[in-house]
Amino acid sequence: EISVGILGTGKYVPERCLTNQDLEQMVDTNDEWIVSRTGIRERRIAAEHEATSDLAYEASVRALQRAGITADQLDLIIVATVTPDMFFPSTACLLQERLGAKKAAAFDLSAACSGFIYGLANATGFIKMGMYQKVLVVGAECLSRITDYTDRNTCILFGDGAGAVVLGEVPEGRGFKSFELGADGSGGELLRIPGGGSRLPSSEQTVADRRHFLEMNGRDVFKFAVRVMGNSAEVALSKAGLGTEDIDMLIPHQANIRIIQSALERLHLSQDKAMINLDRYGNVSAASIPLALAEAVEEGRVKEGDCLVLVGFGGGLTWGASVLIL
Ligand code: ACO
Repeated sequence: EISVGILGTGKYVPERCLTNQDLEQMVDTNDEWIVSRTGIRERRIAAEHEATSDLAYEASVRALQRAGITADQLDLIIVATVTPDMFFPSTACLLQERLGAKKAAAFDLSAACSGFIYGLANATGFIKMGMYQKVLVVGAECLSRITDYTDRNTCILFGDGAGAVVLGEVPEGRGFKSFELGADGSGGELLRIPGGGSRLPSSEQTVADRRHFLEMNGRDVFKFAVRVMGNSAEVALSKAGLGTEDIDMLIPHQANIRIIQSALERLHLSQDKAMINLDRYGNVSAASIPLALAEAVEEGRVKEGDCLVLVGFGGGLTWGASVLIL
């Protein structure tokens, strides 16, 4: 069996920055509350002319460059997102056209914040079965477009951005060693956008009722996240025949610093063993993990041969973890 790993990473965030001080002018909140409860200081917000496929494009171009391949060599494009440009065509098809990835198949993947890990598992499976050689996996979001900026419970959390990786064969010993994916649909109501689909189609009423914005039960999602982050990381490690002591760097979903800290405690790791950038970007859903991974690579925080554990959770409810020897 061949080893499948990462050939190149890339990221992109929009220029405009929304700080905690800006949010103080918009809702009844303050910098101290946001930093102490979440760890977030600022987030990036897409320009009016930008949509998710534009952010995905910028991140993908960089990932292809770093992988040393051209778009026409791609066999498949997977975009994980909860904020596609539109219902269809998929954001992956829009990206395929923009990149000129003529021979690539393309589809979007819906698993909320766990979407990028689900995407990596899909891509790895396709390559291992011999169906494809080079696969682009992107996590890209414009969460600002589904955020209710009158709701202080949610609007402080989310931002926009994209991260991308090119997957392909790597030398033996490196690459993805395990995946652990899960879902619990019974918690679907905790985190959702109820309006605009076939259950509650768009109407003047759904707009008036603000049903096109993200709704969240923060406390229950928090409890779920704390439980599942440590759990799924441990399961992924044991599937790979490794233990927490083997981890060089944890690349967690960037939802809340306290959730990450509790995962670190559970895994007996110090805070310098986790890549953290939520202070600058907030929660970017499916884009959080690839953004953190790309930054860890760019900043030299991780190097070839390091053992990384990628772990995330999100709407669905869903979760996912993976062990990667870089
Ligand atoms: N500024 C000031 N006060 C606030 C704010 C704010 N922005 N937001 C809420 N509060 C108030 C609340 O109204 C509440 O007041 P009350 O006790 O009088 O009702 C008080 O602060 C405490 O609220 P809690 O909900 O208990 O605060 P908590 O410590 O749980 O933090 C938070 C809230 C940050 C939302 C936390 O629950 C969390 O991070 N949950 C996980 C959320 C998450 O990760 N969601 C994304 C999942 S990924 C995806 O799929 C997109």
